[in-house]
Amino acid sequence: MMNTVIIGAQWGDEGKGKIIDVLSRKADIIVRFQGGNNAGHTIVVNEQQFILHLVPSGILHKDKICIIGNGVVIDPQVLLEEIESLKKRGVDIDSNLKISDQAHLIFPYHKIIDRLREGKRKAHKIGTTGRGIGPCYADKVSRTGIRLIDLLDKDVFREKLASTLDEKNEIFKKIYHHRGFSFKQIYDEYSGYAGKIKRYAFDCAQFLSEAVKGGKRVLFEGAQGTSLDVDFGTYPYVTSSNATAGGACIGTGVSPVDIHKVVGVAKAYTTRVGRGPFPTQFSSNLLEKIRCKGREFGATTGRPRRCGWFDAVIVRRAITVNHFEELALTKLDVLDELKKLKICTAYKYRGKIYRDFPASIKVLQNCRPLYEEHPGWTGNTSQVTSFRDLPLNARRYIKRLEQLLKVKVSMISVGSQREQIIRKEISR
Ligand code: GDP
Ligand code: IMO
Ligand code: MG
Repeated sequence: MMNTVIIGAQWGDEGKGKIIDVLSRKADIIVRFQGGNNAGHTIVVNEQQFILHLVPSGILHKDKICIIGNGVVIDPQVLLEEIESLKKRGVDIDSNLKISDQAHLIFPYHKIIDRLREGKRKAHKIGTTGRGIGPCYADKVSRTGIRLIDLLDKDVFREKLASTLDEKNEIFKKIYHHRGFSFKQIYDEYSGYAGKIKRYAFDCAQFLSEAVKGGKRVLFEGAQGTSLDVDFGTYPYVTSSNATAGGACIGTGVSPVDIHKVVGVAKAYTTRVGRGPFPTQFSSNLLEKIRCKGREFGATTGRPRRCGWFDAVIVRRAITVNHFEELALTKLDVLDELKKLKICTAYKYRGKIYRDFPASIKVLQNCRPLYEEHPGWTGNTSQVTSFRDLPLNARRYIKRLEQLLKVKVSMISVGSQREQIIRKEISR
């Protein structure tokens, strides 16, 4: 297996966790490179469900190194809870997990301001997960963030926290009428976390550089999806990191020349959680049906996900910016009972046809999706293990997607279980 990046092709929750788990068998190292605990990656093994927010989805394989890269923002409390809960379930963490000491940390003021800002936005709420992700990345870029390496040095941590709180408390009091934060409380709480996290901290870039030179196979686990990418998504209704393939280099220190392949993960339909344009969203009848069948509720916040038809415009944009060599198509089984299916091939706005993704939020919000209609297969696909055994119309649907996207589908997921995956031979 070559060093491969796995990227969400839509608005997140495409089933990346499951695909990473499946592909981890052939990898040596699995590394998360962006996002934080806004992510929720689900893996189901022997009917047991694991939802991972920070720990890479390779962790259920015993002999793999799992890394949280420098590009991830870490809430230490959430991380330690996740580690404890995995340990309780018999997962070996201590010998497999490593964390970049350059990763930035989420503090209580990040979480509070995330929510306060959303409150102030009124009509233009983003619908964030409220986990402090955006404010933490903002501090990183404005050079006022605190990294894991800073936390591990008492003097540095004391000085950085004190100077950060000086500024933040003034903002909190004057702008948000919030009482602000006690230095001592945060210092004591986070010093406690430092003692527990220290054992995992390491130099990610150096380690990966040597691993790659030594021929180790690395799997890069994207979080969120291309349409939530801060540069290429439906801005400002996006997350605050680069969820596209380029993020894998920035978020780990691995050079682009050491990455050999990018695989996209797309649902056989579309979902989105949080606010923002969603041209192919279903009307209420179908929305309930698919949400219920696909169990479309956020793995992090439990919010109901909005659902809609497959949107080839946004997936084509994902292919453009990531160069997917192949695609994993998930949740095909959720469409099993539909008599008719639609695929959006372009948008129309004020007489103009948009085949390529429009950057204008006005166009995205007001466009009319142009659909082609396909007959459904009304048959159960969840037990199918080979492409040729899928119902004819399901095969036709997948082939039509391949034609529209000009990318081959190499894996088809037909259920949440690890085994419910169809490998499809692709010719290059
Ligand atoms: P991620 O964030 O991309 O890892 O995706 P999530 O875990 O948030 O959401 C995907 C959901 O769909 C999870 O509940 C998975 O267990 C489930 N899932 C994954 N693949 C399939 C599939 O092929 N069929 C069905 N029915 N469920 C799936
Ligand atoms: P995974 O990795 C789906 C969405 C939020 C919100 C927007 C910004 O499981 O696919 P943030 O808290 O990041 O500032 O929120 O991004 N969002 C996700 N939606 N899956 C995710 O992760 C998401 N992570 C963030 O709902 O609309
Ligand atoms: Mg998710």
